[in-house]
Amino acid sequence: MEILKNYSLKNHNTFGIDAKADFYVSIRNNEEIEELINTSLFQNDKFFILGGGSNVLFTGNFKGLIIDINIRGIKILETNDDKITIEVGAGEHWDDLVTICLNNKFFGLENLALIPGKVGAAPVQNIGAYAVEQKDFFYSLTGYNIEKKQFETLNYDDCKFNYRDSVFKHELKNNFIITQVRYKLNKNENINLSYKELSQEISKFNIEKPDAKLIYDTVRRLRTHKLPDYRLLGNAGSFFKNPIISKGKFDKLKEIFTELQGYTLANNKVKVSAGWLIEQCGWKGRQIGKAGVSEKHALIIVNHGNAKGHDILNLSEQIKQSIIDKYDIELENEVLIIE
Ligand code: EPU
Repeated sequence: MEILKNYSLKNHNTFGIDAKADFYVSIRNNEEIEELINTSLFQNDKFFILGGGSNVLFTGNFKGLIIDINIRGIKILETNDDKITIEVGAGEHWDDLVTICLNNKFFGLENLALIPGKVGAAPVQNIGAYAVEQKDFFYSLTGYNIEKKQFETLNYDDCKFNYRDSVFKHELKNNFIITQVRYKLNKNENINLSYKELSQEISKFNIEKPDAKLIYDTVRRLRTHKLPDYRLLGNAGSFFKNPIISKGKFDKLKEIFTELQGYTLANNKVKVSAGWLIEQCGWKGRQIGKAGVSEKHALIIVNHGNAKGHDILNLSEQIKQSIIDKYDIELENEVLIIE
């Protein structure tokens, strides 16, 4: 284990922000975590656990220690006629996992193809796309509890998963280093076509029984078409969550803004398309300095080259204010802002 000083994070965040960390360490196994937490550096400095950097915005240099989790490995734990349980190192790339599962006929994750980031970050924000969330296949995870100074295994209920949310953003924030995640997948194809845009796209093929491979390929095509590639144009996917408002408020807004897009949830709530709100406020494709809003998808803030973290943050705040002014809706960040 080597602790590096004054380390550039440019290649460790998909916004491509050139922030520097005072200290940086790459962790390859569980033993190195124990080694690290006993160092005086860890005990005295602030730290941040990085999991691929695809959902973070560094607003400036990081005055502390960046812990980059690179624990690898995928293994089968248990299998029967219907299900297979696998254990995955937190440092594996999520999209590699999805591809390996499909190639081995372990089904379920195909709707989550091409999501950037590492497996350890997936439970933290409960990643989701095309009507599937990682929680739908989650079994358990192991990690190091910093306060209790021990490795612990947490099950589904312990993780308190919600829309882009989990216990790791609240009670266990900065207190738990995820090392291994377990998923229980299907041995039989049981495809999920409940997301309208996906089912419409699949129906164009006129195939009687679409399979998981077709879902995987179609999700990849849709994402490639709609979302900017962070390797070409720095971004962290959706910058904001889709806001959830009361049905009453939605109905009132809909009287004024008849085109308002919403998806009805249980308990009298409606999830509104933040992308639509932002586009209606005229932000799509706009640029302020080196920060801009994607011309492909209004929910994505992009780095047009050498933007500072603060430029991106300022733009996000202007967007938020305009949505409050026009719709009286407060957007919540999906991206984690790191000071
Ligand atoms: N829309 C617009 N203008 C835009 C973009 C979207 O009007 O520029 C409207 C359209 O009506 C569209 C609707 O918003 O039909 C929904 O758009 P989309 O299908 O792209 O989904 P989203 O709600 O914007 C969410 C996730 C994405 C995920 C997609 C597909 C959040 C915050 N985002 O986006 O996840 O890929 O659904 O399931 O929930 C991410 O989390 O980083 C992410 C990219």
